[in-house]
Amino acid sequence: MKRSLADHAARFDEKAPEYDSEKSEEYKAAVSLVVDRATPGPDDVVLDLGTGTGAVALALAADAGRVLGRDISEGMLAEAREKAADRGVEGVSFGVGRFREPRVDATDTAGGVDVVTSNFAMHHLSDEEKRAAVDVIAGLAPRQVVLGDVMFFGAPDPDDPFYGPAVDDPATVGTLADIFTDAGFALTAVERVHDQVGVLVGERPGGDRAGEGASP
Ligand SMILES: C[S@@+](CC[C@H](N)C(=O)[O-])C[C@H]1O[C@@H](n2cnc3c(N)ncnc32)[C@H](O)[C@@H]1O
Repeated sequence: MKRSLADHAARFDEKAPEYDSEKSEEYKAAVSLVVDRATPGPDDVVLDLGTGTGAVALALAADAGRVLGRDISEGMLAEAREKAADRGVEGVSFGVGRFREPRVDATDTAGGVDVVTSNFAMHHLSDEEKRAAVDVIAGLAPRQVVLGDVMFFGAPDPDDPFYGPAVDDPATVGTLADIFTDAGFALTAVERVHDQVGVLVGERPGGDRAGEGASP
């Protein structure tokens, strides 16, 4: 991570009121793909990490039993809560949590976490931190992880608008694939949105609900 958690949180607190305006087509495509590829059932718990203003969490609420949005920025979370209230979206809650400490407890997830999603957030972590984060995710034993993010299909282009080299740390698709497979997920889809934006789907072989016979 090129900036501290506090720096990232402060940066997004400042951006929060305007965050939803003027998003790129590639960002919108990634949100749509993450939402399309995530397959929560009506009793499932979805954990959306780096939820921001809730683009993915709010879209999945209709299909899931419960959606938990977690973020380090109180400002972004406030926007997400306001959108949920304005739209009358039920079954979704937003709270402070980070990739490596998502703060889900038994009251949130009596039957475990079934699906983990994240969009345009993991690239703030270094590759080592991404690996630690995916290990934490694997420890929650979800059957599916859907990651949309800035990721390199080819050579990085620091002049491209999708990331800022001073604050962001995107990985190559190959590195992300290794991280997910090393953590026990089978990569079932790799979707390229742009040379620097993609969506990965990881599934646990035999992935039943957490604790019901699947090995993480
Ligand atoms: C570019 S926004 C994406 C928000 C949302 N997922 C979306 O698709 O619009 C990145 C978000 O990740 C959050 N974030 C950054 N580092 C984080 C971390 N270590 N743990 C959790 N959230 C983090 C930021 O606060 C910010 O809200």
